[in-house]
Amino acid sequence: MTAATHRAAVLCGLGGALPATAVPNSALAAELDTTDEWIRTRTGIRQRFVIAPGEATSDLAVAAGRRALESARRTAHGDRETRGGGPGKDAAPDVDLVVLATSTPDHPCPATAPAVARRLGLTGVAAFDIGAVCTGFVYALATAASMITAGAARRALVIGADTFSTILDPADRTTRAIFGDGAGAVVLRAGDQAEPGALLGFDLGSDGAGEELITVPAGGSRQRSTATPPPERDRYFTMQGRAVFNEAVLSMSKSAETLLARIGWRGADLDRVVAHQANVRILRAVADQLGLPEDRLVINLVRVGNTVAGSIPLALADAAADGTLRPGDKVLLTGFGGGLTWGSAALRWPSPYVEPVA
Ligand code: COA
Repeated sequence: MTAATHRAAVLCGLGGALPATAVPNSALAAELDTTDEWIRTRTGIRQRFVIAPGEATSDLAVAAGRRALESARRTAHGDRETRGGGPGKDAAPDVDLVVLATSTPDHPCPATAPAVARRLGLTGVAAFDIGAVCTGFVYALATAASMITAGAARRALVIGADTFSTILDPADRTTRAIFGDGAGAVVLRAGDQAEPGALLGFDLGSDGAGEELITVPAGGSRQRSTATPPPERDRYFTMQGRAVFNEAVLSMSKSAETLLARIGWRGADLDRVVAHQANVRILRAVADQLGLPEDRLVINLVRVGNTVAGSIPLALADAAADGTLRPGDKVLLTGFGGGLTWGSAALRWPSPYVEPVA
């Protein structure tokens, strides 16, 4: 008699993409009333990347998506080589769903995902955007995984991509210091809960009462229906940093604990926590709340800043490429963002082939 199996979405490909231009803290200090020391000690960030004029979110999404698809191909090839069979006919990812998490789409309308899918040669597949700001990737992962387990999709490309440099106030030293552009992507396939890489559960939540803590006031229907041009500053992203800091720590810790209880894991058993890369002090506080030593945290904000929906998959790609994530590790993802929104996911780390994110 065979043991009962439970259908699950399984992570089988991973990649990230960054723009060519790095902006070190010293460049911001030369332009704004800030210092490298303030940014490093208050946030942990040393540099961030920004897109060039004329580039857009879809360019990063396509680059990350392409790497994730290649990773899925090479991972499948490697699996077969290990078993001595060589690449099989289904080594191509055969994706039938593209979900793009972003708050900086190429245009207000239509969604950016269909254009990304087309540029990746995935014409005809289901493709849509999800907006949950910095929690966007976890929401997109949960949506795609649910569609796979429900039988509505076989393989999904899930991308988190944002270019906040396009919506930041050039004169705002706080947001300019924190945010950077970037994208990360994973491929999910249908599989079984017992497999490494199977997504074992999610916790998602929101609280619209905190809507104004993170917002771009103008540009949406509320402002546009007045037909009055908005003041310049209302077109930019605004954030109430201190309040967001406190909410981020509380929400990610609570969401992580809720999910751990649901899937029967203890915090102390986690090998790695991949939390949204907003501020190293937020990450340390979350580890503290979960009773974990700091060395369980994956931290890549030092070199990329807060890349919003790109943050968690980029951190995964960096940590997989440098060996921080090891096959079999118990991994918890947790995010927090505008809305307010939060979410967590858990998996045992598989062994995907991952290129370093240059
Ligand atoms: N350089 C120098 N000083 C700065 C600065 C900068 N880049 N940014 C802010 N300051 C100043 C403030 O103006 C303030 O000065 P004041 O005391 O004279 O008024 C002082 O630093 C302290 O500001 P405060 O906001 O209390 O600092 P903080 O320790 O909370 O750090 C953040 C500010 C933004 C780094 C921090 O609150 C944070 O990381 N918040 C969460 C951000 C986030 O995660 N956003 C995305 C969520 S998805």
